[in-house]
Amino acid sequence: MPLSIIVPTFNEAPNIAELVRRVTAVVDTSDTEIVFVDDSTDDTPDVIAEVARAAALPVRLIHREAPSGGLGGAVIAGLTAATWDTCLVIDGDLQHPPEKIPELRDRFAVGDVDVVIASRYAGGGTSKGLADRTRVLVSKVSTSVTKAMFPVRLHEVTDPMTGFFVVDRRAVDAATLKPRGFKILLEILARRPLRIAEVPFDFAGRHAGESKASFRQGLHFLAQLTALRFGKMSLFAVIGGIGAVANLAIVWALTQFGVDYVIAAVVGAEVTIIGNFLLMERFVFHDMKHSASGVWSRFAKSFGFNNAEALVRIPIMALMVETWHISAVLATAITLVVAFVVRFVFHSLVVYAP
Ligand code: GDD
Ligand code: MN
Repeated sequence: MPLSIIVPTFNEAPNIAELVRRVTAVVDTSDTEIVFVDDSTDDTPDVIAEVARAAALPVRLIHREAPSGGLGGAVIAGLTAATWDTCLVIDGDLQHPPEKIPELRDRFAVGDVDVVIASRYAGGGTSKGLADRTRVLVSKVSTSVTKAMFPVRLHEVTDPMTGFFVVDRRAVDAATLKPRGFKILLEILARRPLRIAEVPFDFAGRHAGESKASFRQGLHFLAQLTALRFGKMSLFAVIGGIGAVANLAIVWALTQFGVDYVIAAVVGAEVTIIGNFLLMERFVFHDMKHSASGVWSRFAKSFGFNNAEALVRIPIMALMVETWHISAVLATAITLVVAFVVRFVFHSLVVYAP
């Protein structure tokens, strides 16, 4: 069965030759290709080009000058560029043993599934290669949380976050995937119902170099999970909630220090408006940023709208305080809830117009 092996790489120079050697040893070189999708900032592309010249099978290099979507984006670029429909995704650092490739391919060749997942957590698999106890814990907890959030789609999946799997690219509509960070398989599995099989494997230590997983990747993962599960509005609500709490805290703190509540409300609102815009750019409308307008134009619209809204909101709030004799904090809270819905509609339809 013809196979395209997709390898995302970010600064993996010392691992390339060994990976190609071990892959070559176990596949049929006449109908297998390796596609490196590289976002490196070091000499990895040169190393790949050199290894490709001496290789016994086609080794292709896609070097992305303007990488988008991180690891997930690289995998999608690989699926799109692959010669064959059957694509196997594998890390470039040899934590995924290439010797497993034939078993994964043969399981896929049975023809009854769309995806074959190499799992660290299926019976017989191990995750010894996770560098330390913290990584092990983070991996286990996030796997459980993820499974709990997608009880149906991930029912039989023990390792939805592995980066080692075979997929028929016709079963995943690459154009509709919104890759973000590390969890590309999760994105694929969550979007549509797919027929899945698992094969256990031993997650090894890295051959050379360092992991690119980070706290930032972790934040992206949380954002991706929430967006996948509940859609943009929920993420917008979470950020709005954080903003509202910050806003209330500022109003409270300033009035405690004797600042007039109107001034306190203005300061609270401005700080929140700017903070929320930055969070929205980063996490909520992350994939809409390619729309025609630039960041400053989006900021102007968002800032303008929120200020106009606050201008309307603050007198209403003052009126509520004067006539109902409620606290400034409560009045702020009530008006913020109403404002939330209006704001979401404006941002989805105007600021981040599709
Ligand atoms: N092209 C590209 N762009 N490749 C990347 C990027 C990127 O932005 N970031 C990482 N990679 C490549 C690395 O070079 C490596 O080949 C592979 O993706 C995995 O990255 P590692 O840095 O080795 O991550 P890890 O070992 O911590 O994470 C692995 O285990 C996780 C589960 O514990 C990966 O398999 C993850 O997919 C998996 O979720
Ligand atoms: Mn790794």
